[in-house]
Amino acid sequence: MSRSDEPPPTPASDHDIQTVRVELGARSYDIRVGEGLLAGAGEAIKPLAGGRRVVVVSDETAGDLHLDTLAASLAAAGVGGDAIVMPPGEETKSFEALSGLMDRLFEIGIERRTLLVALGGGVIGDLVGFAAAIALRGIDFVQIPTTLLAQVDSSVGGKTGINVEAGKNLVGAFHQPRLVLADVAVLETLPRRELLAGYAEVVKYAAIDDAKFFHWLEANGAALADGDAALRARAIAHCCAAKARIVAADEREGGVRALLNLGHTFGHALEGAAGYSDALRHGEAVAIGMALAFRLSVRLGLCPGQDADRLVAHLDAVGLPTRPTQIRGVDWEVDDLIRRMGADKKVADGKLTFILARGIGKSFITQDVARGDLAAVLDEAVSE
Ligand code: NAD
Ligand code: GLY
Repeated sequence: MSRSDEPPPTPASDHDIQTVRVELGARSYDIRVGEGLLAGAGEAIKPLAGGRRVVVVSDETAGDLHLDTLAASLAAAGVGGDAIVMPPGEETKSFEALSGLMDRLFEIGIERRTLLVALGGGVIGDLVGFAAAIALRGIDFVQIPTTLLAQVDSSVGGKTGINVEAGKNLVGAFHQPRLVLADVAVLETLPRRELLAGYAEVVKYAAIDDAKFFHWLEANGAALADGDAALRARAIAHCCAAKARIVAADEREGGVRALLNLGHTFGHALEGAAGYSDALRHGEAVAIGMALAFRLSVRLGLCPGQDADRLVAHLDAVGLPTRPTQIRGVDWEVDDLIRRMGADKKVADGKLTFILARGIGKSFITQDVARGDLAAVLDEAVSE
């Protein structure tokens, strides 16, 4: 594993760290949130490594920026390791990349007690989690999320997987990590666009069932996006606690966990239509998807228009897209979007599942949406 000559930054002290527990019986684990966790990751990982080498998997961008700190921390804790660096981008969540990763893992020589460490955003976390789920019928892994999106959402809850031609995340497994280390300091290197994409998932938690948090975000969201680390840590721990509660209640999405898909039925279809390209980041698709879910709710007479306006105004204010037409270079077609929604995992008995809202913080799950209403909302959205 590559090592820097620089001394590692000072690890976080315990009082700077907030710990959220995901209660899943024997598979329970901690999410630690704070500044400087990466530099102390070696000591945190050591008990899980059980004296064996670990394999850190990152992508070129996150790896260039943060792998040296992790490597130095593992070495300082006496944990030996190897590193595999994947290309960045959504294409890395593919069978091809998974196959390449598996070959590298077996070349290195993994065994049942080898620990994988995912250092990166949601792409690396989903890919490495899935590799850990299927390698040798399941090995342990640790998530070190380096994007805001991964820190508040994808690194928690054990959804792992890859994309296939038919749609996003259609091949995967539930496989919980042993530990999540969310170091707020690594977000300093994150481009603003990526930071905002993650912020969409932060707003999602508020829109689902936490109007008080939404109010807090209206007051603090801009400063959080501009770099206030204390606000970031507070919001990340709050979101992780919300996700931990939902995952503990419904790990495999038989019910309440589906609420976390607010904005995603629309969002995944938009991402697919954009070819999973850089034109539209996942979090941006979720922002547009939430706006569409609220507009559909208003059209169905379920949600006051002012709540939808307030949600859209906040997303707009921080600089997130709320309409498909803000995304350049994509030919949006309503029939194509509806067809893509039909290929989503959230279809049950041939019916689309939507997360709609009776207001901010009042989301619910329904399959009761007529195609005409859906088409009308999409028609308006792709023509404005
Ligand atoms: P990503 O992993 O592609 O990261 C975004 C970009 O930021 C990449 O180019 C990456 O190299 C770069 N990057 C990462 N950390 C950085 C840092 N600290 N500084 C600078 N650059 C950095 O994308 P993402 O938005 O983190 O995750 C999106 C993925 O997550 C999608 O595939 C989505 O389906 C998945 N997801 C999964 C879940 C789940 O529950 N498993 C939930 C939400 C999203
Ligand atoms: N991101 C949705 C979930 O974890 O269920």
